[in-house]
Amino acid sequence: MLGWMGFYEERVLPRVIDVVLGNRRMQQVRRPSLAGLSGTVVELGFGSGPNVPLYPAEVDRVLAVEPSARARELAQRRIAASSVEVTFVGLDGQSIPIDDRIADCVLSTWTLCTIPDVDAALAEVKRVLKPGGRFFFLEHGLSTDPKVARWQHRLTPIQRKIAGGCHLDRDIEKIVRDAGFGFERYTTFTIGRPKVMNFMYTGVATKAT
Ligand SMILES: C[S@@+](CC[C@H](N)C(=O)[O-])C[C@H]1O[C@@H](n2cnc3c(N)ncnc32)[C@H](O)[C@@H]1O
Repeated sequence: MLGWMGFYEERVLPRVIDVVLGNRRMQQVRRPSLAGLSGTVVELGFGSGPNVPLYPAEVDRVLAVEPSARARELAQRRIAASSVEVTFVGLDGQSIPIDDRIADCVLSTWTLCTIPDVDAALAEVKRVLKPGGRFFFLEHGLSTDPKVARWQHRLTPIQRKIAGGCHLDRDIEKIVRDAGFGFERYTTFTIGRPKVMNFMYTGVATKAT
């Protein structure tokens, strides 16, 4: 039987994320980050599938990685309404049970904050990408404003408890660069409130051949 925390994380949180990150405003934020996706795409932390209606026409198929059964259930309506074939291939971005060099692109939107060993996940991204493959990301993380960053460090232990393991203070640019990727496009921006969650990183990182 699920304890209260298990019930919250498995049944309640996926629905909250679906509502908060699945609205029209967030769709507008997502759209530019997905521009250029093509071919076989591995999506990390697929969630309830809010990116599905936004996949460019050049996307052939999506191999989805998502641990939450409730999120996968919520995703069904979006998958059914799309012409893109979506297959759930794994539960954990730290260890994806698919072959090396299978993907043209990997996509992650607001997921690198949550994966416990994010460096292991980036190593998996590299492994599954074809030579010259591209990693598309849209993530919140460490602010460049030192005052905000201090609060992000302070609040991360609480945030991890209430938001399914989410870290407020990950330096996404450094994490992606340190994993050995170069950037084809990259930018940061802020959106909305609270400030501890409004610093966004988005870009396309390339794996050397
Ligand atoms: C904040 S939600 C974002 C969901 C979706 N990508 C979006 O853009 O709305 C983070 C997602 O990462 C998933 N997740 C948590 N741990 C994970 C892991 N180890 N590997 C892959 N995904 C994970 C969660 O279940 C959740 O669906």
